[in-house]
Amino acid sequence: MASDKTEIAPSTDMSRRNWLKSFSAGAGAIALTSCFDLGVKELHAAGLSTEHFPSATPNVHDGLIRLSSNENAFGPSKKAVSAMQGELYNLARYTDATVDVLAEKIAKQEGVSADQIVITNGSSPILFGYAEWIMENGGNLVTSMATYEGIPRGAEFMGANVNYVPLDSEMGFDLDAIEAAVTDDTTAVYICNPNNPTGKVVDPAKLNAFAKRVSKKTQVFIDEAYIEMSDAYPANVQSKLVAEGHNVVVCRTFSKIHAMAGQRLGYAIMPAAQAKEMGRKLRMGGVNYLALVAGMASMDDHANLTTMRSRIQTERSKLTAAAEFLGRPYAKKPQGNFIYIDTGMPHDQFAAKMKAKGIKVVGRTWPGFDSWSRISVGTPAETDACVTALKEVLA
Ligand SMILES: Cc1ncc(COP(=O)(O)O)c(C=O)c1O
Repeated sequence: MASDKTEIAPSTDMSRRNWLKSFSAGAGAIALTSCFDLGVKELHAAGLSTEHFPSATPNVHDGLIRLSSNENAFGPSKKAVSAMQGELYNLARYTDATVDVLAEKIAKQEGVSADQIVITNGSSPILFGYAEWIMENGGNLVTSMATYEGIPRGAEFMGANVNYVPLDSEMGFDLDAIEAAVTDDTTAVYICNPNNPTGKVVDPAKLNAFAKRVSKKTQVFIDEAYIEMSDAYPANVQSKLVAEGHNVVVCRTFSKIHAMAGQRLGYAIMPAAQAKEMGRKLRMGGVNYLALVAGMASMDDHANLTTMRSRIQTERSKLTAAAEFLGRPYAKKPQGNFIYIDTGMPHDQFAAKMKAKGIKVVGRTWPGFDSWSRISVGTPAETDACVTALKEVLA
């Protein structure tokens, strides 16, 4: 085993520098195929595997298929895992230099400048840091009902006022109503696109025009955690607004399409002065080195991202077909890796019935939607098991 370990590690400073250079030059994942093979064998020998790639975090936990947290059950890019394996022995240094390499890479991809990027351990620190920023800058947020709680709940917790505007008739963000709700006192507007839990995407031209107008009065924060899963990606992406100098923040995560929820990596794109201030506050102990390594390799694995988008679409359409078959109301044309369905019973009762069938669905609800539940897609076998359970529970 000892000799295998020596083989995996490109451990000299020189190899590390060259490796980082290869990323900044856009060369992508390094050639560590033999290391990858070694890792697969070892992990298989330990009995760890998922359908897409070996994993030490099984989708099945406590005997339940976990379709409750919008994780990506297909697992990360093989190139990302392979890149991490190759760097396992290079953990001695703090990561500021590597963070800068990733920032340059994101800047190139998004057409922004690197000083407009803040990179953190998952995007949650950005959401909570932003909630604090709201409090420090007037304490008034406008958002929609039934949206991701990170910023609104965080801001409320710190004492902010949150104006929750009703969803539109198709369960999407009602941009006209949100714009009408913005006052001189509004500190920020939070848009989640695609929205969690309804999965709705806002028309990109409409959102772009909205953000240009509204950001003259207040900052517009667009959470694009699931954007790469949307059918019209990259047309739905709004980071160009930041490049153009609008008062807009765009937030992303590697937890969703990149399937790295357990590794923690996320970033925000925002005006440079704010990014500097947020970066100082949020980076604190720095960002996990292996997450940076995996994130860069995953960004370069375009084939994996394309395949992932289509696999998620396939599984999502099984869930929407089940909702149609059962005649249950649901948020149509969902664009994330989940559906939002009216089960006709209190959400906790539905969750208990699904649990009895071996499926874990989201255990909480959103105010005003007590009979609605969010269900994430899984691997093909997991989604099929969920559809079978749904047909029994909701028949
Ligand atoms: C819309 C949205 N934003 C942000 C997050 C935070 O994810 P993470 O902290 O893993 O980046 C989530 C997690 O589910 C989410 O659904």
